[in-house]
Amino acid sequence: MKGVTSEVIAEVRGRASLLEVVSEHVVLKRAGKEHRGLCPFHSEKTPSFHVNPEKGIFKCFGCGEGGDVFTFLQKVKGLDFLDTVRDLAHRYGIALIESPEEKQEYNRRTAILMLYQQAAEYYARLLKDPREGMPARDYLHARGLDEETIEKFKLGYAPNVWDGLLRYLTAGARVAPATLEEAGLVRRRPDSSSYYDLFRHRLIIPIFDEQGRVIAFGGRTLGDDQVKYLNSPESPIYTKGQHLFALHLARDAIKQLDQVIVVEGYFDAITAHQYGFPQTVATLGTALTERQAKLLVRHTESKRVYLAFDSDTAGERALERGVETLNQIAEGVGIELRALRVPGGKDPDECLRGSGEHGGKEAFAAAIEGAPLLVDYQLELAVEKVDLKTHVGRIEAARLIVPVLSQIKNAVARGEYIRQWALRLGVREEELLSEVRQHMRRERMGLPPRPPSPSPAGRAGGVKSGLIEAERNLLALYLMSRDDHKQVAEALAEQSFFEPVHQRIKQELDGIGSGFDTAEDLQWKLMDRLAPDGEAKKVLVDLILKVEELRKQKAPLEVMLNEGRARILRERLAREKSRLRSLMGLAGSENEQNSLGSKIIQLTQVETMLLPAAKTEDEITVLKRKVDEILGDSGQLQPLETTA
Ligand code: UTP
Ligand code: MN
Repeated sequence: MKGVTSEVIAEVRGRASLLEVVSEHVVLKRAGKEHRGLCPFHSEKTPSFHVNPEKGIFKCFGCGEGGDVFTFLQKVKGLDFLDTVRDLAHRYGIALIESPEEKQEYNRRTAILMLYQQAAEYYARLLKDPREGMPARDYLHARGLDEETIEKFKLGYAPNVWDGLLRYLTAGARVAPATLEEAGLVRRRPDSSSYYDLFRHRLIIPIFDEQGRVIAFGGRTLGDDQVKYLNSPESPIYTKGQHLFALHLARDAIKQLDQVIVVEGYFDAITAHQYGFPQTVATLGTALTERQAKLLVRHTESKRVYLAFDSDTAGERALERGVETLNQIAEGVGIELRALRVPGGKDPDECLRGSGEHGGKEAFAAAIEGAPLLVDYQLELAVEKVDLKTHVGRIEAARLIVPVLSQIKNAVARGEYIRQWALRLGVREEELLSEVRQHMRRERMGLPPRPPSPSPAGRAGGVKSGLIEAERNLLALYLMSRDDHKQVAEALAEQSFFEPVHQRIKQELDGIGSGFDTAEDLQWKLMDRLAPDGEAKKVLVDLILKVEELRKQKAPLEVMLNEGRARILRERLAREKSRLRSLMGLAGSENEQNSLGSKIIQLTQVETMLLPAAKTEDEITVLKRKVDEILGDSGQLQPLETTA
């Protein structure tokens, strides 16, 4: 959806009142220049959610969520950025300027959405038809679904004819059959100009987007058709792997319960909702995609995601590549992935409807309660088939867990796992560690070079490392004033930032260049460019708050710039030294040890030179070059494991 120009964004921002918008969702109390309330994005008892209307930003000091009026609505309503702008523009009566092509594309999508809406109504009505809908209703009742659930999921029935929907939608020539074909609702007979319904004699399960609009259908056979589920093809409104089934119904529960259950099938989700697990969504038969994971993360930050595995396929599934990727995404954004092993070797639908020891609501709830961390589960699975009582078995086990250990992103956590497992398997910790490092290095060779990851301390979010702090101080200087901008941009033109998110912000700043009016204008331009990058937006909020602090210091720009650059260099030195020290511990030969030792000494000398404050720009540049020289080809600051 286009038609949203930067002028429109600016105008909407100018007119929309952050306070007004937030107040519709959060009870706010005034506290000086700010307003405070209970954060809508995580559950808390004391208010740590701050709104600063003057600056146009909000921030939660509890969960770290933050941004502008657009971010807020995006989060609360689950819309994307452009839809949010459109929404607000509409509300504040601002006209959207659209090119004819954009308008056409928008109209096309709207038309198809409408067709799906009408088709859904048609199918739902037929399900209720006492005569026609009987086979489908019988089927649903046999599967234990009640009326409320049928209504909630807007289930339907496609009759056993070739042209039911076709005739319904084209009646009175309202819609051309070709349009229905484009929408994926009917097909065209080869070598003929006639069309026929895609879904015939099937139970219809509408797939909704997050805003609750029908965008596709799943059709389950009521007989024994070879194809159990026939699904709508992709269309201008539907892309596979981009949506999660039942998310529109689950959103509130996910938020409230602070957790989400991810299942595979339509009926698994539907039954779960009926049996009191409204926090359930389904991936529809595929492994969870990154895009889907990110959809979830929007509602579950620092919360728990339970991946349901039918016990029969659990083994292979949990070790799949997709799950591995998910593990990493999850860790990156701080969600807790757990493996939900469905009791009784069944899928969630069968388990919930079952009875006895392995069936029913209680058994399912107990499985949730006892769900292990996905990583733990994967580790146990990996060694399941070897005999840990024998020496050979334990060596084999150590080999098998290496790939799982390697995907643990957080170095501290990884180290801890390595220690525990080395102990359990009776192998030497250093050996396991070195295997894992080798594996990670091999993995990385196949991947594009990654920017160095920040220290675990920085990641953890609590204490910010000095380096992160220093980098943010520098970035904030860009936003201080229009007049100083040129000087800042020139001084930092060559500066690269170690923290990837900082580098991304720097790139956008470079992209904007001097194309802005006031410092505030720059701030919003940056915010808009970073719209898809949640992490960067949060950092930007911190930068905006920092600007104020820096202004209060009233130091000359020159001094702040040089101080920042010197500080980054000092931090880098400290990191490099500790990196070299741990390398020394691992180094095999005496030669290697000596060379590392001498590097450490040289770095310490540079450190001393850096110490007296107030260095000039040139002095810092010289010292920086010196550090690069000392470190030689290992001069890049990088995570320990890539150079071990
Ligand atoms: P399953 O084969 O596990 O089916 O596929 P199910 O969900 O248990 O189906 P019921 O209980 O027999 O009705 C899991 C999911 O994979 C997708 C569907 O989304 C299904 O719910 N799938 C499966 C298809 O899209 N097409 C198929 O032919 C089969
Ligand atoms: Mn099933």
